[in-house]
Amino acid sequence: MVREGHDNIVVIMNCSVIYMSSKGGVKRIADAIAAECGTEAQDASERHVPGQADLLFIGTGIYSGKPDPDFMNYLDNLPLNTIRGAAVFSVSKDGLDHTELVVNLLRHKGIAVYPVHFTCLGQTLFRNRGRPNSVDLVKARDFARKVLDAYQG
Ligand SMILES: Cc1cc2nc3c(=O)[nH]c(=O)nc-3n(C[C@H](O)[C@H](O)[C@H](O)COP(=O)(O)O)c2cc1C
Repeated sequence: MVREGHDNIVVIMNCSVIYMSSKGGVKRIADAIAAECGTEAQDASERHVPGQADLLFIGTGIYSGKPDPDFMNYLDNLPLNTIRGAAVFSVSKDGLDHTELVVNLLRHKGIAVYPVHFTCLGQTLFRNRGRPNSVDLVKARDFARKVLDAYQG
């Protein structure tokens, strides 16, 4: 992604969006964020080569009150040395933020985490039918825009 920063200096921001999604809710949010970043979201559960990113958006569903343990394991082993910052998003049935383990892991690796995390409701068996919905996707894109603006000064 190429954008204009201060004094018309062109800033090249290399963004990646990485996620794990069991039922598809996180994937929909990840795709919306990736569209705002001008990239494609990467499913961490598929075989891939991690890109060299300045800014990494990281998304997980919440299961039994926690981020996906397989995703935690993936992040723990991910080389993060090029990353200037990370932003965290999640989907859960209560719509609350349960990403503390992800945030702590990233901070432990010395990565600055954007202080606001994006969370939204996700559909479970009979709850939150249709969520994330189109409004959630717009909010996800707004979140991505704010993060991009913050990192590009
Ligand atoms: C086995 C299971 C356990 C879950 N546990 C929780 C939970 O403890 N708290 C919560 O808010 N949501 C919980 N959820 C809801 C998921 O976070 C929600 O369905 C979300 O959309 C999952 O992301 P995904 O659709 O990308 O898999 C659970 C869902 C499943 C399938």
